[in-house]
Amino acid sequence: MIIRPLAAGLSAAALALALTACGSDSSEDKKDSKADGSTASVATIADGKLTVCSDVPYAPFEQEDASAPSGFSGFDIDVIQYIADGLGLELSVVPTAFAPIQSGAALNASQCDVAASAITINEERKANLDFTDAYFDSEQSLLVPEGSDIASIADLDGAKVGVQDATTGQAYATDNAKGAEIVAFPDDGKMFQAIKSGAVDALLQDLGVNALHQTEGGFTIVETYDTAEQYGFAIKKGNTELLEAVNEQLAEMRESGEYDTVHAKYFG
Ligand code: ARG
Repeated sequence: MIIRPLAAGLSAAALALALTACGSDSSEDKKDSKADGSTASVATIADGKLTVCSDVPYAPFEQEDASAPSGFSGFDIDVIQYIADGLGLELSVVPTAFAPIQSGAALNASQCDVAASAITINEERKANLDFTDAYFDSEQSLLVPEGSDIASIADLDGAKVGVQDATTGQAYATDNAKGAEIVAFPDDGKMFQAIKSGAVDALLQDLGVNALHQTEGGFTIVETYDTAEQYGFAIKKGNTELLEAVNEQLAEMRESGEYDTVHAKYFG
């Protein structure tokens, strides 16, 4: 596996780190040496791997994909795959429920190094985990079956609205959907089944995911809510070495134009 040459913007701290690593022969460095002779740039929970928790399905951000190297693809996965490649690590995706991802529990239990799960950066979560630089802008949205009487959030009074447990969409619905019965589901797969079967009248969640359901046919987005959300990758609190390494790869991905290529692949 190839570690890309770092862009000119290599930070002084990273340079110092790289120089230290070259000049030392501690067992710590040996542990990180890989079979092909290259050296992993950061310590991870499983040698040679970047283990990533993700709540799947959440297309177009994360979905199973037998044709992808990790068995998963999507905007988040493609970005984190690029980052793993840049760090000389093999990407290993561990499907994980969203509640323990966003609470920090999965990271604290060392189930993964990074969580890549369309996670909105917010203060409450920052108390329990660290976020990388933002990599995607999002907002909330309301999806209904075509021909529904529901045209706005006010029309949810007396109706059932599906949300995903422990998400910002659940919080938005709780605060704003007056008189609605809010039904929480463990994942988007269950939510989409519920709106298809008529078990709920609407879905309130991140725009990108509802937008894909709309293109799948039979459903329409009647409102969007500009919540100015931004997604970040989550890392165990205090793991600044990995946080900085991921941020550096992310910056390099933007500089190289590869971020735009991946963005265009999923969002046109
Ligand atoms: N952005 C929203 C949040 O942070 C929803 C994320 C859900 N992600 C997922 N992979 N299911 O709460």
